[in-house]
Amino acid sequence: MAQLMDHVALVTGGGKGIGRAVVDRFVSEGARVGVLVRTLEDAASLSQQHGENVLTHIGDVRSWDDNVAAVATTVQRFGKLDTLVPNAGVYDFSRKFADIPGEHLSEQFDELIGVNVKGYLLAARAALDPLRESRGSIIFTLSSSSFYAGGGGVLYVTSKHGLVGTVRALAYELAPEIRVNAVAPGGTRTGLGGLASARSDNMTLNAVEGFEAMVARTVPLGFLSEPEDHAGLYVTLASRELSRFLTATIIQSDGGLEVRGGGRRVKPNSSEHGERQ
Ligand SMILES: NC(=O)c1ccc[n+]([C@@H]2O[C@H](COP(=O)([O-])OP(=O)(O)OC[C@H]3O[C@@H](n4cnc5c(N)ncnc54)[C@H](O)[C@@H]3O)[C@@H](O)[C@H]2O)c1
Repeated sequence: MAQLMDHVALVTGGGKGIGRAVVDRFVSEGARVGVLVRTLEDAASLSQQHGENVLTHIGDVRSWDDNVAAVATTVQRFGKLDTLVPNAGVYDFSRKFADIPGEHLSEQFDELIGVNVKGYLLAARAALDPLRESRGSIIFTLSSSSFYAGGGGVLYVTSKHGLVGTVRALAYELAPEIRVNAVAPGGTRTGLGGLASARSDNMTLNAVEGFEAMVARTVPLGFLSEPEDHAGLYVTLASRELSRFLTATIIQSDGGLEVRGGGRRVKPNSSEHGERQ
């Protein structure tokens, strides 16, 4: 049975990766979805696959006006907004703190936190009125880096830890009208990109050598997840029938990372930084 009939959602960064899997799954569950994308190419691919069930707005999540426009066009076209999924993100490719030249730190911080944190807050603020009206919900994409070090550098881990506070503060403040929850994926096969300010904007996570094997070795379930592996959790959190008593909940979709223990060991002959196993 379709879980999201007559449901309207807005997903940021929904052209590819985890956001795209959420859009595809929401549409297959009966929803109509607005998508804030960065590129014409993503917009075209969504329109081709989903036709009238999806509308796209091209913009930058760091812009208040783009977030307002994405919410407004979604509500105009589909009549309301039930679920907002702030999801667009960038990565620091685990760059070590000492390797970020001090004079570049401010710029790299502003770019990463601007997309990963400010972008989420702007989307949530822009969607507040229609979400209140529908008694809807927000589902943030967090990360295993919201709980542990080692899956990203200090900028990425700082951004994703900060979002735990965002989920909690907004869940508290926006109740009872709006539920606020999150999905925290672990390592996932996507083209998550880097920072223009660090000249890593043409790098992608799925091209990092050894990424799949490293994730498979690290998590008890023993494999690298696909974007689709997380999408059903967003459906559950979006559905009032399935989760109407859930708010401030962060679902960790990470292959059991938490119970692994002993994450860092130094092997004889390894570098002073130790070696992950
Ligand atoms: N891939 C992983 O291993 C992993 C693990 C945990 C969490 N995440 C999180 O999942 C979310 C989605 O990332 P993904 O892995 O699917 O990568 P992705 O690159 O496929 O998706 C990210 C999307 O965000 C968009 N984007 C980036 N900057 C933007 C901006 N300024 N304005 C508008 N859109 C912008 C990109 O165009 C892209 O479509 C991110 O928040 C990421 O931190 C990813």
